[in-house]
Amino acid sequence: MYKKLLRRLADGGELNREEYLLLIRNREGLRAEAGEAACHLRDTHYGRRIFVRGLVEFTNYCRNNCKYCGIRAANSDLSRYRLTGGEIKECCDVGYGLGFRTFVLQGGEDMYYTDDILAGIVRDIKESHPDCAVTLSVGERSREGYRLLREAGADRYLLRHETVNRDHYKSLHPDTMSYDNRMRCLYDLKELGYQVGCGFMVGSPGQTEDDLADELLFIREFKPEMVGIGPFIPHHATPYCNEVSGSAELTLFLLSLIRLTLPDVLLPATTALGTVDTLGRERGIGAGANVLMPNLSPSGVRQKYMLYDNKICTGDEAAACINCLKTRISRTGCEIVTDRGDHNKMMKTEE
Ligand code: SAM
Ligand code: FES
Repeated sequence: MYKKLLRRLADGGELNREEYLLLIRNREGLRAEAGEAACHLRDTHYGRRIFVRGLVEFTNYCRNNCKYCGIRAANSDLSRYRLTGGEIKECCDVGYGLGFRTFVLQGGEDMYYTDDILAGIVRDIKESHPDCAVTLSVGERSREGYRLLREAGADRYLLRHETVNRDHYKSLHPDTMSYDNRMRCLYDLKELGYQVGCGFMVGSPGQTEDDLADELLFIREFKPEMVGIGPFIPHHATPYCNEVSGSAELTLFLLSLIRLTLPDVLLPATTALGTVDTLGRERGIGAGANVLMPNLSPSGVRQKYMLYDNKICTGDEAAACINCLKTRISRTGCEIVTDRGDHNKMMKTEE
C-alpha cells in the first residue's frame, strides 16, 4: 500500500498530508524504492549531472540568536571575521579558475554589509564573471534591500524557512525573530524574480513527523527553485548543546520525497549530511540530490564559520575540496559539471 503511494507520487500524482505522513512513518521499507524513483526523475530532468556551487562564507558576525546556530550573537567564545569585498572577489576568482560558475555568498546577518556595500560586491563579481550566477544567503532584509541586490545582479537567494510550524519556529528562535517576517522575505524574493531556495533542518529540537508532512505540502505549494535540507547538529555553545543530531536516514528519505514532489528542483547534498555520515553526500546523490556546495572560503577562516560541531571540510584548500568531491561523485555514476546549473524552468524562460 505504501509503495503504491510512492508510485503515485513518482508518476506525478499528489499526496495529502495523511499520505505523506504514512510514507514518513513507514520509511524503513521504502528507502531503496524512493531513492531509485527520485534518481530516475532527476535524471529525466537534468541527466546524471551534479552542479557545483562555490560557497564563500564571508562573515561570521550575526545580529541574531537562533538557538541552534553556532555563530549566534550570544556566542562570545568565537573569533569573529569579515572578508573585504576584494577578498570575497578573490575567492570567486580562484573558484572561477577551478571551474565554478556559481558563487554563493553566505554569512550571518551582519549589517556591516549594508545593502549598498553588498550590492557593490555583487556588481564587481558579475562584472568580472558575467557568465556566472551569484547566489546570496544573508538572511532577512527589507524588500527594498532585496530589490537593490537583485538590480546589482544577484540571481538567486537561499533562505531556509527553518520550519513551517509557527509554534515550532517560535521555539527555535528568540522573540526578536518572527515566522511572518521569514515568510514575507521568501515571497518578496520570489516576486522580485530571484530563483529562491527555502529549506529546513531535519531533526531540529521539537520537530515532529507531522511537521515533516507539512514541510512537504509547503514545498509543493511554494514551488521553490531550490530546497536546502540537512540534519540539525548540536553546537556546544548554544542552548541546544545537549540535543541529538538529526538522522542521515531520515534526511535521505526526505530528499527523495522532495525530488518526487518537485521533480525539477535543485537539491543539494549538504555539508551537514556529510558531517553526520562520512558518505552522506554520496548517499544524498543516491537519494535524488543534484547539487554540491564545496567551500571556497579562505582556509584561515573556515574553522570560524562553525554552525555546528565537527563540521567537515574546514581544513582544506578549495582545489582539494573540489578534487575530493569529483572522486567521490564519480563513484556514484554521476558527474560533476561546471555550468551555471540553472533551474530547468528558468532555462526555458531565458531561452
Ligand atoms: N544568516 C543566513 C540565514 O539565516 O539564512 C545564512 C546563514 S545560516 C547560518 C545558514 C543555515 O545554517 C540556516 O538556515 C540553518 O538551517 C543552518 N544551520 C544553522 N545552525 C545549524 C545547526 N546547528 N545544524 C545544522 N544546520 C544549521
Ligand atoms: Fe544568525 Fe540565526 S543566528 S541568522
